[in-house]
Amino acid sequence: MAESMKGLKRTHRCAEVTKAEIGSTVTLMGWVQKSRNKGGIVFVDLRDRSGIMQIIFENGDIDAEGFEKAGKLRSEFVIAVTGHVEARSGAVNENLATGEIEIRANSLRVLSESETPPFPIEENSKTREEVRLKYRYLDLRRPDLQKNLILRSKVAVLVRQFLADEGFLEIETPILNKSTPEGARDYLVPSRIHPGSFYALPQSPQIFKQLLMCSGYDRYFQIAKCFRDEDLRADRQPEFTQIDMELSFVDVDDVIDVNERLLAYLFKLCLNEEVSLPIQRMTWQDAMDYYGSDKPDLRFDMKIQDVSELVKDCGFGVFTGAIENGGMVRGLCAKGLGDVSSKKMKHIEKTAKDYGAKGLAYIQLKSDGTVKCPFSKFMSEEELQALIQAMGGETGDLLVFAADKFKVVCDVLGALRLKFAEELNLLDKSEYRFVWITEFPLLEWSEEENRYTAMHHPFTMPMEEDLDMIDSEPGKVRAKAYDIVLNGTEIGGGSVRIHQNDIQEKMFECLGISKEQAQEKFGFLLEAFKYGVPPHAGLAYGLDRLVMLMTKEDTIRDVIAFPKVKDASCLLTDAPNTVDDKQLEELCLEIEIPEKE
Ligand code: AMO
Ligand code: AMP
Repeated sequence: MAESMKGLKRTHRCAEVTKAEIGSTVTLMGWVQKSRNKGGIVFVDLRDRSGIMQIIFENGDIDAEGFEKAGKLRSEFVIAVTGHVEARSGAVNENLATGEIEIRANSLRVLSESETPPFPIEENSKTREEVRLKYRYLDLRRPDLQKNLILRSKVAVLVRQFLADEGFLEIETPILNKSTPEGARDYLVPSRIHPGSFYALPQSPQIFKQLLMCSGYDRYFQIAKCFRDEDLRADRQPEFTQIDMELSFVDVDDVIDVNERLLAYLFKLCLNEEVSLPIQRMTWQDAMDYYGSDKPDLRFDMKIQDVSELVKDCGFGVFTGAIENGGMVRGLCAKGLGDVSSKKMKHIEKTAKDYGAKGLAYIQLKSDGTVKCPFSKFMSEEELQALIQAMGGETGDLLVFAADKFKVVCDVLGALRLKFAEELNLLDKSEYRFVWITEFPLLEWSEEENRYTAMHHPFTMPMEEDLDMIDSEPGKVRAKAYDIVLNGTEIGGGSVRIHQNDIQEKMFECLGISKEQAQEKFGFLLEAFKYGVPPHAGLAYGLDRLVMLMTKEDTIRDVIAFPKVKDASCLLTDAPNTVDDKQLEELCLEIEIPEKE
């Protein structure tokens, strides 16, 4: 039996009632967390998004009918309670914000009843994620998720406040679009009015924000939904949210400056964390050379070391062969991992192979003084000792080496570095370590397409000092692009854009995009640039990733109200799904699903 709210008004949220209200009357509404019927007295924990309040129903304070109703309350019933705020009669509950007070109820309404939920609504749920996502509306009642979404809302509000104060205008850009140049696969929407034609959902507002610069809105931002049909991972969703911005008449330092202050503002007001400014900057080359990654986790050191010079003439063919083939030999020294078991060593080798290594050469400097080194037979004792010394290896350490081309060496050692850090417990969860990665390569060679592709996107400005290499050594040209990395996750990225026609043409040429193709794809942008384009630059954060790190969650699903799972489906609504034949007909579409091999 569901009662109405008629004549009732909520006065507080549960956790908003404090000791200061003792003696006053309040009306609270929420869900029954749990209820204990002790004969003449019923204790109820009432929950809303603010927290929990203990309610006491005692025969006499409340009329007989009300007391009877209270005795029948079960978990997740929605109730309204009016009562007196009192100091706790029993033991103070230190775990509750409201642990020193309780409400002695004098009226109760059951606003709705609840069936027994499929899992308990509680913090640190042990329920499988698939079940939680199917009943996401219940999952979202849990305090941990509520805390996350409340923080997310706060971040969005503060971003708006900060950027508005800095003179940014919030402008929306369309969702039904022509393809954008971020390089992932597009989500397409068929057009009914133009049969056979499709809109692409935006991978980012990139082109529109550049057009807005042409229109004179010299500081733009948007909290923008973006769509990318990519393989999903813990930090990737098919639709996600960017804090997107673009500025006119600026260079790299201006974008970095405003964003450092934005980050410091957010971390101070949301987490009371000081971000010390300026944030460290590291070139892409250094990040790759020392950390094997363009998103290095700098909470621990363990740098990659190059020993190519030292081993180039040694007797070990794996090392010398790699160098002769234009590759290199680099290694890591994992302090304190020298005694790993053979089983664990196999595991480490497997990780290396998963990242493309042909094998993993290693030296275990065991704490009993013995040395395990499968390749020692190929080296003289002096060569081996020199190698250990160059790596800074001491008793108790594990040295691993990758001999291969640059990319493989970086991938393998970058991955092992993180694995070792986990193994050695080097990742301090309470630390927030930011770094800007700058001077990315402009172009990236694609073996697949046998041509250069843009590392960022085709509108990224080359560094002036590298412009003269664009014809001779395009692979060496660096870009005015930057990423902001937090604890080993890329939370944002951007660049200075090309605003000069001749450089843009050169860029298309390098990318193997013909004049016609460029016109076809981005003609409207190039056209716009003919009518007075300001120098401009911008950046976009992944809001989901930023909030994931702020809340110390391991996946962005935990900071998104209704996320999708690995196969890009929604377990709650069952999207994507088939549509009526009539809808397909209207769109002139026919479905033919190839048989699986
Ligand atoms: P980029 O492609 O680097 O740049 O995207 C910016 C940020 O968006 C986040 N992000 C994602 N988050 C969740 N799921 C995804 N699938 C996903 N893909 C990206 C990342 C990333 O750093 N237009 C440019 C920005 C610019 O140049 O101004 C852009 O979109 O945190
Ligand atoms: P092999 O001569 O192939 O038996 O390799 C000898 C040792 O070198 C083994 O421990 C391999 O795991 C290791 N090894 C093989 N290829 C590489 C490589 N590219 N980089 C580092 N170590 C390797």
